[in-house]
Amino acid sequence: MSAQIIDGKKISAEVRAEVKQSVEKRIAANKRPPGLAVVLIGDNPASQVYVNNKQKACDEVGFLSRSYHLPSSTTQQQLLDLVEQLNNDDSIDGILVQLPLPEQINASAIIEHIRPDKDVDGFHPQNVGKLMLRVPALRPCTPYGVMRLLDSTGETYKGRHAVIVGASNIVGRPMTMELLLAGATVTVCHRFTSNTPELVANADIVVAAAGKAGLVKGAWIKEGATVIDVGINRMEDGKLKGDVEFDIAKERAAWITPVPGGVGPMTVAMLMKNTLEACELHD
Ligand code: GUN
Repeated sequence: MSAQIIDGKKISAEVRAEVKQSVEKRIAANKRPPGLAVVLIGDNPASQVYVNNKQKACDEVGFLSRSYHLPSSTTQQQLLDLVEQLNNDDSIDGILVQLPLPEQINASAIIEHIRPDKDVDGFHPQNVGKLMLRVPALRPCTPYGVMRLLDSTGETYKGRHAVIVGASNIVGRPMTMELLLAGATVTVCHRFTSNTPELVANADIVVAAAGKAGLVKGAWIKEGATVIDVGINRMEDGKLKGDVEFDIAKERAAWITPVPGGVGPMTVAMLMKNTLEACELHD
């Protein structure tokens, strides 16, 4: 069997087109465009690429976008003050503080200071809690995007065994809640799991989100499984590689996402969707 490719580029373009259409409707009704503020601290090259992609997407869908690039010496109080200013700015519906932050800044304190109704990353404890309690509000963008990719296959996940590799706050944990909400039976593997290969071999759906190139071996994949690769690992030759051994996995899976062009573009598209949603609740 050779897997069908889940085309994240195409599906993310559909999401952005839906958002753009809704923005055009707002403008035609004399309403303001949704506004997104993106805050980047320091010079992490990967973060700069992500932030540029977010800016480009804002322009494409017709959002107001504001970016704040602060030096790596920024203090926690300076960042809290900026968040406070954006919390009180009526032209801004979404606030995104790019992670990771420099070590002098406590990321949890910053996330908790963002107004939950402007937390378009879905990282505030109130939004995390709502997803856990099955009343999702703003949802973390990457897991939300993965659900859209899974929907696109037309396969059901009710009662299916989903195995997530990686238990981060940004992907693994909210992914667990999304799949549970969708009716899957969910197993989470992490750095202390001793039998990850056996668990993955039992999975109808595999979500690889460990941030380690090629960690999930192609030979572990069950015949006919759906494989979602969240990993984006920059290799020494400059190429991007996922967490899954793609060439072997694609001979066993029924559906698989490539890297690049799978989950990556979905994160930005779902951020646009979240910002629109926040705006529609504001006015
Ligand atoms: N760093 C890596 N992924 C993300 C994300 O989805 N949001 C933010 N704010 N930072 C990130």
